[in-house]
Amino acid sequence: MIYTVTLNPALDRYIVVERLLMEDTTRILSETPYAAGKGIDVSRVIRELGGQSVALGLVGGFDGMQLEGLLINAGVMTDFTMISGETRTNIILREQAKNRQYAISAAGPEINATEIGLFYQNVNQIRNMDYLILSGSIPRGVTPNLYGQLILAGKKKNAFIVLDTDGKALHEALDYQPSCIKPNIYELSRLAQRDLQTESDIIGFCERLHDKGIPNILVSRGKAGLLLSSTEQKIKAVAPPVEVDSAVGAGDSVVGGFVLAHSRGKDLADCVRLACAAGTATAQTPGTELCHRVDVEDTLPKVQISTL
Ligand SMILES: Nc1ncnc2c1ncn2[C@@H]1O[C@H](COP(=O)(O)OP(=O)(O)OP(=O)(O)O)[C@@H](O)[C@H]1O
Ligand SMILES: [Mg+2]
Repeated sequence: MIYTVTLNPALDRYIVVERLLMEDTTRILSETPYAAGKGIDVSRVIRELGGQSVALGLVGGFDGMQLEGLLINAGVMTDFTMISGETRTNIILREQAKNRQYAISAAGPEINATEIGLFYQNVNQIRNMDYLILSGSIPRGVTPNLYGQLILAGKKKNAFIVLDTDGKALHEALDYQPSCIKPNIYELSRLAQRDLQTESDIIGFCERLHDKGIPNILVSRGKAGLLLSSTEQKIKAVAPPVEVDSAVGAGDSVVGGFVLAHSRGKDLADCVRLACAAGTATAQTPGTELCHRVDVEDTLPKVQISTL
């Protein structure tokens, strides 16, 4: 089974108004709640593409319960750990008259030591873990080293571990040698502490990470597509030109597509192909909406794969 982890999930409220009014009441035209967070996105993409996964993470309060219910209704299995704080709510506000969108993002609750202990126990008790996907930032109150410790827990279960995070959490977790990381080009450049521009620059730095024990590096490069550097192969995938609406969640879709294909025993080139098609299909949808299966299937044969 594939398990995804979202330590700081959110209940997104997508609110549509005609026009924002100063010193007068602005009426809401529609309000739609979404279960959000990077690991949750991965689980939703896997579901959309016909697979199954279990979403793990920390949720609290009524918003946390609603988030879980939304996922269950969407066909995603969950095994969340309850916390005493409230799951955060992000407001995505669309002002139709001006065709503008605002995203107001909350920090999320502080997690206490008991809660992180319960979560860790929950992960340790899982028996059928084939994949462990660790995505997104680490909440307040939790050590940036947590991903490292989860990687060790996953390794004891012989799981294939994918890490998609940034900054200190990424830097610290590398020593624990996840099976795969999925940085975008900016995250990889921050890790390298220099601007990685050319493909040979990227591959040169990936080789250093291979030497440190990370066998697969999936570098996402926006419309330039994907580059997978593994210890044996270097595979490049370029998406067909599409009309892009919002690329939010495209990276999570890459992770979902890659892991789903990998769990089905596909070769690396086919894994990268599905990853690229899922990312590109998500870039075609508005706001935080993720890919639709029809678009992924339509894009799949148009992805150009080459080896470097
Ligand atoms: N403008 C675009 N045109 C075509 N494909 C795109 C575009 N933007 C993203 N993609 C596809 O989605 C993949 C992931 O995009 P990107 O590199 O922006 O990820 P990311 O920065 O990690 O995103 P996020 O973390 O917001 O989910 C790309 O490798 C590509 O396959
Ligand atoms: Mg990303």
